[in-house]
Amino acid sequence: MSSANPQGIQAFPDALTDPDAWLEPFDWYREMRTDAPVRYDPSRNAWDVFRYEDVKRVISDNETFSVNPRIAADFEPADEAGQDMILDTMLFQDPPRHDELRDVVDEAFRARAVAEREPRLRELVDTLLDEAIAANDGEFDLVDELAYPFPVIVIADILGVPADDRAQFREWSDSLVAATSGESGDAIAEQQQESLQEMGMYFLSLIQDRREDPQDDLISRIATAELSDGTPLPQQEALGMCMLLLIAGNITTTNLITNAVRCFENNDLFDELAGDEDAIGTAIEEVLRYRAPVQAMTRIARTDVTLGEESIDEGDRLVAWLGSANRDEQKFDESDQFIVDREPTEHLGFGHGTHYCLGAPLARLEARVALSALLSRFDGLAVAETDLSPTRSSFVYGVESLPLQYSGT
Ligand code: HEM
Repeated sequence: MSSANPQGIQAFPDALTDPDAWLEPFDWYREMRTDAPVRYDPSRNAWDVFRYEDVKRVISDNETFSVNPRIAADFEPADEAGQDMILDTMLFQDPPRHDELRDVVDEAFRARAVAEREPRLRELVDTLLDEAIAANDGEFDLVDELAYPFPVIVIADILGVPADDRAQFREWSDSLVAATSGESGDAIAEQQQESLQEMGMYFLSLIQDRREDPQDDLISRIATAELSDGTPLPQQEALGMCMLLLIAGNITTTNLITNAVRCFENNDLFDELAGDEDAIGTAIEEVLRYRAPVQAMTRIARTDVTLGEESIDEGDRLVAWLGSANRDEQKFDESDQFIVDREPTEHLGFGHGTHYCLGAPLARLEARVALSALLSRFDGLAVAETDLSPTRSSFVYGVESLPLQYSGT
């Protein structure tokens, strides 16, 4: 099967196709860690990996496992250029190409550069919450009003693209992380191609503008970047980089914020955490472990390899279940408990090794700022009674919407 969204190639395993199962996949993970910690699923032509140590190895041992879907035995190139653009980004390239690409934008996402944005982030959250309060009467949807628009506006600011285009960004990002399995799989894959092409055109004109007239923004840096041999970053890679940055940090951060609110509600923590940003920062790490916004990542075996008791062939595809690794009882005490002040852990919520999330400092700051404002500004905050629907993706994990109620501000 080919797909515009190489991570989306991983169709849902049978056990998780039901939306309710995907909302709470953790019992299934536990069974698999015991009964079939490394297992081949013929219906998806992929190996699933569930235990912490195995998952960590699969995502970080670059010599044995590649991020490049092009080396998969069953890889079928799509005709459209959009797929190549995405596959040529750091997320799908192994070292040394990976390192060259990551170096282009690395500095902009380091903790120090990110910390300078904190005042602007606080201002933004306050404005969004003011708008939510003004437009609604005691109830609002956390995703629509804060958790979605906030990270999009932030990355749009960093890149230097008009935040007014954010409705369009949402359409593109949602389409690109959507699962391409199931009845509507082909239609979704087609939609993904369209989104990639539209995004490509959108960024092409911005990159051309910035080459002629560089500004103090990240698109200008990408548009004028040179690689270590002095050659310019090829246009296809510059476009892919912009697209990756726009997609990677949106729905993931949205879900970190909403997953945190669900964890806090379920453990009656709103009052306890309000006003204590350090405690909120610690709690966010536990959310990244307990309800990780990215539950799974794909790799391809570069050589024949034995994992657990299974023999995996070169070119085989593996799905490393970060969400299961994070609940592994061999690694974490009381692994199925949300412990709000748990000592720092080696959770895999942002991955591990070479491909460790570039945006981790930014996502952590965004979540801390958003959650502390949310908990401080409302009295009687609660999640409204509702049926939750999971995010339509087979690797990004969270809910489509989360209505909140409050009694005062
Ligand atoms: C990589 C999760 C936010 C940009 C990753 C990986 C994970 C992840 C698990 C590893 C992928 C792999 O090993 O194959 C998350 C989560 C986020 C988040 C849970 C929010 C809570 C962001 C943000 C940005 C970003 C805000 C930037 C704008 C990236 C990039 C990579 C990446 C560029 C690829 C890094 C590389 O290949 O070297 N992210 N991410 N992410 N993330 Fe994030």
